[in-house]
Order: sequence, then C-alpha cells, then structure tokens
Amino acid sequence: MIGSPDLEQIIADAQRVFANAADTATLEKEKARFLGKNSALTALLKGLSKLDPEVRKREGAGINVAKQRVEKALNARRQEFSDALINQRLAAEAIDVTLPGLRSSVGSLHPVMQTWERIEQIFHSIGFDVADGPEIETDWYNFTALNSPENHPARSMQDTFYLDAKDAQGRPLLLRTHMSAMQVRYAQIHKPPIKSIVPGRTYRIDSDATHSPMFHQIEGLWIDESISFADLKGVYIAFLRQFFERNDILIRFRPSYFPFTEPSAEIDMRFERGKNAGCWLEISGSGQVHPNVLHNMGLDPKLYTGFAFGSGLERLTMLRYGVDDMRSFFENDLRFLRQFT
Ligand code: PHE
Repeated sequence: MIGSPDLEQIIADAQRVFANAADTATLEKEKARFLGKNSALTALLKGLSKLDPEVRKREGAGINVAKQRVEKALNARRQEFSDALINQRLAAEAIDVTLPGLRSSVGSLHPVMQTWERIEQIFHSIGFDVADGPEIETDWYNFTALNSPENHPARSMQDTFYLDAKDAQGRPLLLRTHMSAMQVRYAQIHKPPIKSIVPGRTYRIDSDATHSPMFHQIEGLWIDESISFADLKGVYIAFLRQFFERNDILIRFRPSYFPFTEPSAEIDMRFERGKNAGCWLEISGSGQVHPNVLHNMGLDPKLYTGFAFGSGLERLTMLRYGVDDMRSFFENDLRFLRQFT
C-alpha cells in the first residue's frame, strides 16, 4: 500500500503540520494525531489482522515505512527546536574573550613628586631639616623681609598673583612667588645653626616651555658663624652628583642679582639628553644671605653668614629624564606619566 494515495497523503500531512508547529507543545500534540492510538496509521495497522498473511506482510511493511517517515519528520522538527534553544542560550551567554579585561590600575608618584622625595632624602642625609610653609603669603615675608622694599624695581622680576584678602598691614595677600618666603619665617623659630630645605609649590604669571604658572621649588638655607660661598658650591655640587647619580655634571655659577643675596649667582646645568642636548638650563638661584635679611631674621650680620639657594623641581626633573617641555608635567597625559613609574 506504500505509494497508495492514503499513505502518501498521511505522510505529506504530517510533514506539513509538524513543520508548521510553532513550538514544542504544539508539536507534541500533533504527534498524537499522526502516531497516537486514534491515528489513521494505527487504524490501518489494526486492520491488517483481517488480511491474508501474504497481503498482510506486504501492506504491513508499507505502513511501517510510512510510520518511519512520519517519525522522521517529527524528530527533524524536534531537533530544530532544541537547536534553536541551544543557539539562543549560546547567544545570551556569549562572552567576547577579545575585550580587554576590567583592570583597576595602580597609581604612581608624579615625576616631579619623585624628584621632591629624592631631594628631601639627599639633603636629609647631610643634616638638613625639612620644613613646610604656607602657599598664601604676606607681602612682608615674600618681598619686604627679603630686602625688596615696596616700589623696588626688583619686585617686577616676579609677576605675582594677588588675592582680594589683605594682611594686618592692609597689604594684599599673595600666592608665594618663591620658596625664599620661608627664609625669614624659618629663622624666626629656629636658632643657628640653621640648616634647612623647604620644598613647595610656587606661583607666577608665566607660561612657556620652561615656565609654568604653578611650579615647584626647593629652598635651601644654611646659616652659621662661618658659612661661605665655597660651602654653597660644595654642598650644591655634592647634591647634584647624588641627584643625577654621576660625577661628570656640567654646571656653571653665573653672576646674577637677587635683592636677598650678595653676592648672587644663577646655577645653570647642561642638558645631556633630548632635543635640548648641549643647551644650558637655569636650575637655581643662589647666593650669600644679604645682611639686611639676616637682620630681619633677628640675627647679627657681623656674627652670622650663610647661603641660600632656590631650585626648580620641574627643571631638575627635565634634566634628569631629558624632558623637553615643562608643560608635559601638567597635561596629565598618561602616556607621558607612565614612563616614570
Ligand atoms: N627665590 C629666587 C627665585 O625664585 C631664587 C633664590 C633663592 C635666589 C635663594 C637666591 C637665593 O628666583
């Protein structure tokens, strides 16, 4: 009977119905209709018993083949549903292993802060006290006490950020223009021998490749009964040799002027690396403390002498690492900063 319109029709109906089943529940319900107890196929099988053995054998085989084809259509559709389910789960649980992981990065000290710490260590090791002071200063500590009276032309060497607030004398407060403002403050609370360094932030209206409106300085001060310019040279060169970890440092003391030192010198150092190699960069002001300043410290200038220096931390850092532009330190570009970790 295979090939008979009946069986072919049953198979075609089952294939179509199974293929159209929208979900597993519908499919299993349709299964009963084509393969269950009350299905046409089961009825045909039951009817076989009434036939002659010869005919029964032939027809039975045909019905079984038809039944297998219906089961095959059912299983194919079941497979489609389970494949779809797996694919759906795979898509939902997909992990893109090529994405960079969520790392929490570890911070590190800014290169200028590394210089700050290095310098503190070096001077501390040769007996200097490390002190700290206010960033907002009075006119007196920043200028007048340092032998720069009001209207003195030397004040215009430093373009100053003034605040609206005023001090007790009615003079505007200001952001300290140099760490030298700490010289007299420190000497007012420490007796000689005075041997201190004061690192800190300073401010001037200035901005180019070697100047920035906020920068860091370290002030050094050594006052005792016979501290000379030779001591300044000895201490400063020893410091630079330790800081740069080499003995062949090229520096020069260039005669200069500061109101609070006499004689005065600027200390220049030669770039060894980077595109500035061969150029000189001023790294420090320095000199013998002026008698008027000693007087403002409450010290007798006939008894005491000493030296002071004020060095730029950004500039020392530029020389140490061959950095060409000071502004790189303040741009917060991680590609630049990571080179110093
Ligand atoms: N305070 C000076 C400056 O900022 C540097 C300096 C310090 C000079 C100490 C002499 C002595 O330019």
